[in-house]
Amino acid sequence: MLDSSREDTVASLRSLLDATGYAGPRAREALGAPIGSEHRPADLPLYLRRLAAPRPLHTLIKLFALHAAVPEAEARGAFGPLPIEDLAALGLVERTEGEVRPLVALAVAEGLVLARDRPDPVTFAVHPDHVLGVGPPALLLSQLTVRRAGGRVLDLGCGGGVQALLAARHAESVVGTDLNPRALAFARFNARLNGVRNVEWREGDLYGPVAGERFDLVVSNPPYVVSPESWLLFRDGGGSGDGICARIVSGLGSHLAEGGFSTVLANWALGGGEDWSLRPRRWVEGTGCDAWILRSETQDPLTYAAVWTRGPEAVGYDDALERWRAHYEALGIRSLVMGALVLRRRTAGPNWVRADELPAPPDRDASAALLRVFAGEDRLRTLGTDAVLLDEVLRVAGPLRLRQTVAFRDGTPEVQEAELSLADGLPLRGGADGGTIRLVQLCDGRRRLREVVAEMARSAGTDAGALTGPTLTVARRLMALGFLEPTDH
Ligand SMILES: C[S@@+](CC[C@H](N)C(=O)[O-])C[C@H]1O[C@@H](n2cnc3c(N)ncnc32)[C@H](O)[C@@H]1O
Repeated sequence: MLDSSREDTVASLRSLLDATGYAGPRAREALGAPIGSEHRPADLPLYLRRLAAPRPLHTLIKLFALHAAVPEAEARGAFGPLPIEDLAALGLVERTEGEVRPLVALAVAEGLVLARDRPDPVTFAVHPDHVLGVGPPALLLSQLTVRRAGGRVLDLGCGGGVQALLAARHAESVVGTDLNPRALAFARFNARLNGVRNVEWREGDLYGPVAGERFDLVVSNPPYVVSPESWLLFRDGGGSGDGICARIVSGLGSHLAEGGFSTVLANWALGGGEDWSLRPRRWVEGTGCDAWILRSETQDPLTYAAVWTRGPEAVGYDDALERWRAHYEALGIRSLVMGALVLRRRTAGPNWVRADELPAPPDRDASAALLRVFAGEDRLRTLGTDAVLLDEVLRVAGPLRLRQTVAFRDGTPEVQEAELSLADGLPLRGGADGGTIRLVQLCDGRRRLREVVAEMARSAGTDAGALTGPTLTVARRLMALGFLEPTDH
């Protein structure tokens, strides 16, 4: 188990990682791959050649990114004034037969250095209390988090602490909870390693450790996998189906402060024929929250089972695949949805729930875009009649991109497909015909929408009355996606 009580040694380790370049871009350049993602074992010879020159940075990468043992003399050279015995006392390495072996990996992500578990180097097996690094789901959650300065944050199922540590940058205080004491040992160590002091770690089941408390932000990347197993803490929510996601979302009613936001990653099962968003809509009922349900992918049971049972060496893959497939068949599950819920507690007035596709993960922090979507939806719900919407003064909310596919027909270029997207966050896509593009051009933050419609009718040589209905439909959609925002005119 990692020991974070030796504050001075952890601080010296961090200095070493900074001084050698392990914590910065130099390490990634040296390896030619991200530091800390799981590398294919077959690629080890390639990486070891890249790291052949005797340098402290290369030795640290071999140990903590590639999980390779190195000769003791080489390790001493790389650790400099930091004795191997001290790093062994932290639980970071062990000495065996003239070699130093790593016991954990050190990942570099989002400006943090994070200790994480590594699979067994020979069998690739993981233990039930395995502590994850920063994978695509963790990154997705961090990008879909509404980040505002100050307030209290809860990271539910914090694992090695990545979400809590990111929230600590903007929050006043953070609580990270986890059922797995081993994960909390990693989280404590990672807080020390990154010099973060405003996070408290608590052990327990879901909201148990924070009973009676409310937070301004709740984030959770729970063990959301719809699985027939229950042994792997980071993956299996316990019991079958998507019960853990339901418990987390429905618990928000008692743990989110008024106006507070939450993002929860979730998977859920579909029996076939029903609306894909029906199940998470039920979880939200009675929470006093508005909710935006996002679907990133839907998979058939076999494909889904393969994602979660295929290990690096495919040990036991065949059996597991069959067990999982049979489980889904027995439950009548026809497909599985991967997605996320973004919620905001608002107890004044009826709540709204919306569902949309998220075609790709955001490529950066989408906090501002999320806030625009919530503000846009609020505005649309309170606008009332078309006449009120026509009086709105709208503007384009951010740097807008227009991507067009043009084909030549008889030598004449013709737009076949056009797509609008905002460059500051959510990769939501709106089909863009000529009318949509013109609408966006004319929404300059000065004209009222009725003037925009009149201008569009004038330039098209048509009657404004005929254009009003379709233009308002498009304007509503663009407001709901956060592409157009109202100005306070
Ligand atoms: C997928 S990992 C997420 C880790 C980290 N938050 C992240 O974003 O990478 C899920 C975490 O939830 C924890 N967990 C599982 N069941 C739990 C429960 N009932 N209550 C609290 N935490 C739980 C696991 O131990 C694991 O650390």
